[in-house]
Amino acid sequence: MPEANAYPLLFSPLQVGPWRLKNRIVHASMSLRYGAAKGMHPSYHQYYLNRARGGAALIITDPVAFLPSQGSERLCAWNDSMVDDLSRFSQAIRSEDCHLLAQIQDNGRARRVPGRVAGLRGASALPDDLFYAMPEEMTPPELEAFVEAAADAARRLQRCGYTGVELSAGHGHLFHQFLSPRTNLRQDDYGATLAGRSRLLVEVCQAIRQLCGDDFMLAVKLPGDDGLRDGVTPSLAAQIARHLVDQVPVNLLSYAQGTHHHTLEMHLPDDSYPRQPYMPLIRRLKLETPEVPVMALGRITDPAEAEGILARGDAQVVALGRALVTDPAWPLKSQRGMARSIRYCVSCNSCWGAIIQGLPLACDNNPRVAHPAELDVDLPAATSPKRIAVVGAGIAGLEAAMTAAQRGHQVTLWGHGAMPGGKAQLQSRLPISESLSSIADYQFMELKRLGVDLRLGQQASVQDVMAMQPQAVVLATGATMVWPQALPIRLRDDGWVKDLREVVVDLLKHPGTQAGVAVVYDLDQTAGTYAAAELLKDRFERVVILCGRESVAQDVPLVVRQRIQRRCAERGIEILTQVEPVWTDLMEEEGRLAYRSIFGDTLRYIDQVALITYATPRKPNVDLWEPLRESGVPVHRIGDCLLAREPMSATAEGHAIGMAL
Ligand SMILES: Cc1cc2nc3c(=O)[nH]c(=O)nc-3n(C[C@H](O)[C@H](O)[C@H](O)COP(=O)(O)O)c2cc1C
Repeated sequence: MPEANAYPLLFSPLQVGPWRLKNRIVHASMSLRYGAAKGMHPSYHQYYLNRARGGAALIITDPVAFLPSQGSERLCAWNDSMVDDLSRFSQAIRSEDCHLLAQIQDNGRARRVPGRVAGLRGASALPDDLFYAMPEEMTPPELEAFVEAAADAARRLQRCGYTGVELSAGHGHLFHQFLSPRTNLRQDDYGATLAGRSRLLVEVCQAIRQLCGDDFMLAVKLPGDDGLRDGVTPSLAAQIARHLVDQVPVNLLSYAQGTHHHTLEMHLPDDSYPRQPYMPLIRRLKLETPEVPVMALGRITDPAEAEGILARGDAQVVALGRALVTDPAWPLKSQRGMARSIRYCVSCNSCWGAIIQGLPLACDNNPRVAHPAELDVDLPAATSPKRIAVVGAGIAGLEAAMTAAQRGHQVTLWGHGAMPGGKAQLQSRLPISESLSSIADYQFMELKRLGVDLRLGQQASVQDVMAMQPQAVVLATGATMVWPQALPIRLRDDGWVKDLREVVVDLLKHPGTQAGVAVVYDLDQTAGTYAAAELLKDRFERVVILCGRESVAQDVPLVVRQRIQRRCAERGIEILTQVEPVWTDLMEEEGRLAYRSIFGDTLRYIDQVALITYATPRKPNVDLWEPLRESGVPVHRIGDCLLAREPMSATAEGHAIGMAL
């Protein structure tokens, strides 16, 4: 029996100024990248509508454009061209008893594009710390126009029915560039002192208040901790918050961590962070401004965590970013005692990876982001239910089997491992990767509920599959790392060198530490390789990654790469780039591994090598493909069995084939 009202505080209303929030759940602002050049994209409208219907009390949208320079990616709020769209949108959201804020934000110098960007403006003429884009210092008349434009857009949004706006003053963007003494070297009225550096933000807040009155919600997301010694430290953040609130009545405050530097990853904490990692900081900052409700933010994924935050009085409201991308019905499911059926965010940050490449927001554990039927548990029934064989119980095969079964197909699923989830499940057993198990856990729970014929621990043969007379076969048999050319092939045949996956399976079976050095020859660049390196570091005295490419982790989003580099540095995992191993007799005789730069012949050595393993690009496992096709049955390859990629493609293709059959 679902337990009703397990989270009484989370589902208690809150009065914020004149507005009543029906519960304490806020959708944090996230860029969606649906594009707005041709007006509001239907997916944009649908994405937020799904979250409003899913039970959030307040939605903060992605940033709108209040200046033409902010581009056509964003909804236009600097003239009246989109007021019809904006009005329709706000009406749709607010008719779900959900309040709506648009975000006001400017990137300033912080551009995530390598190379030079013309026409950038910033607090000071200092290069961006990540991509070195060089801005020109904003002049006082420009700042005046900026303030006016932001307030003008807010007024337009108010006319369109928005509850208010949130100013994003964190994440290393323009307001943050002004607030931080590291990036603001001005000696005029917009710099020099805390009041000066805060002036732009204060002026925008005041101008909005003046133009829109008190009947317009004003939320501010401030920097809480840049993670840099000379940036906005927690104590400076507290002073900034106090100063702001003294100058202008603000309705809601929240805090973001990290900045546009090597600490950018801090704003998207993953498994390398504890859960709700910023609550001690947020609790401390909340004490500075007792008169303003504070939103807790940062890796809050579970309703029990959210309830605990409210129960301890650490914040009045809980803002969820990624958790609501993964499951828009998170609030409703929690309220109805169905938290077990939430699809949980796995903090992998592929959502951010997608938008940063200019692609629409997407999620590893939710292949239906922004679909009209995203909230539906029951998918549209198949017109003619079929017998379907799915071979492979990794997350691609599980998603395909689950989707097909949800549509009424009769599904048999084979998996050669005893546990479902394949590579993702294996990775979830490595350090800092445990959340990943949620993907397969949810799929498996659904498969059991749906009564799918599960044949785990069985390597399916063509005969096994054909014996059930399938009307369609889905092949999701994964992929295998290729042998690295730098090593003699006999080492594989002798069992001397194994791939990293085989090594990990062995290590997980046999706990205990070993003397010597573990060497990983890395041509792979995905997150699992470095999680495995962490496991090796738990077990061996030293770990050296011989990376054949320019840097490690090039195949993962920037924030994940930053985290991997930080972890390797913190844990003393050594990385040598643009090198390759060279096999000599010394290795077999003395455990002395030679390697060289890919540009030269000089050999260098690593002594006391106890293990050599490799991680390389993978080739699809397709042994069953031709024989099954020859039998005349339609066969579909998905996931890594089609082309080895990241988990998002696996669940997306599993879902797509489940819907297409
Ligand atoms: C895909 C993505 C896009 C984001 N875009 C924005 C943005 O445009 N403005 C902003 O203030 N924060 C943005 N954020 C940060 C979130 O608002 C939030 O601070 C962060 O995700 C931490 O919350 P969470 O752990 O609940 O996801 C984004 C986060 C993600 C994952």
